[in-house]
Amino acid sequence: MFSRASTLLLVFVALAAAAPSSDIASSTSLIDFMLQSQSLRTATTLNLDCFDWYLPILKGHSDQYEADYKVCADRFNASKWLIDTSYSIARNGISSKAKETCAALERCDYEVENSKAFECFAATAPEQSAILTIIGQNATDFNKQLLAELALVDSDLDTCQTKAERAYKESSGATFDELSACLEDEDWAQPTTTVSN
Ligand SMILES: *[C@@H]1O[C@H](CO)[C@@H](O)[C@H](O)[C@H]1NC(C)=O
Ligand SMILES: *[C@@H]1O[C@H](CO)[C@@H](O)[C@H](O)[C@H]1NC(C)=O
Repeated sequence: MFSRASTLLLVFVALAAAAPSSDIASSTSLIDFMLQSQSLRTATTLNLDCFDWYLPILKGHSDQYEADYKVCADRFNASKWLIDTSYSIARNGISSKAKETCAALERCDYEVENSKAFECFAATAPEQSAILTIIGQNATDFNKQLLAELALVDSDLDTCQTKAERAYKESSGATFDELSACLEDEDWAQPTTTVSN
């Protein structure tokens, strides 16, 4: 026979196996259960049949949570990608205008006479410099917009994951309560109807 301590250890390992692996925070409900469960602390006998019934249910909640969490991440990734892609034209525009300013200055180098080259640089450099200033301002504006749009997605992701976490805590918390009651009930019999989760 197992000693009481090793029974509790087995209980903990079994519960840990049924908890989501992706998120440490969610396993706090498990720890809460271990701390609060009066039955685990006081009962002289634990009705271990309860685990056969409740562990798959807990695993179901945990799988659901991981699936929901992944849906959030995928949706976030897709939105991020779409937003980023929508700035490709703007980026290409900036990039090609920047290259044009370089090309304009390089053309001055084709002048054979030094005097003509100086003339060219004298006229072209301030012109292109003004264009570069505008390119810089435009790039700043685009980046501000882009970062603001990405921040909105981040906030949506946070809401989505918080919702998934709350749903998991509620469903697993309810099951932990039932499990806790079951453990103290020596007459508990496995329900004959199947529970969907
Ligand atoms: C995010 O989405 C992009 C484009 O749809 C894809 O190539 C990439 O593998 C995805 N990354 C993750 C972590 O899902
Ligand atoms: C800067 O942005 C303005 C407004 O979007 C646009 O009309 C202009 O062509 C851009 N200029 C450069 C040099 O990118």
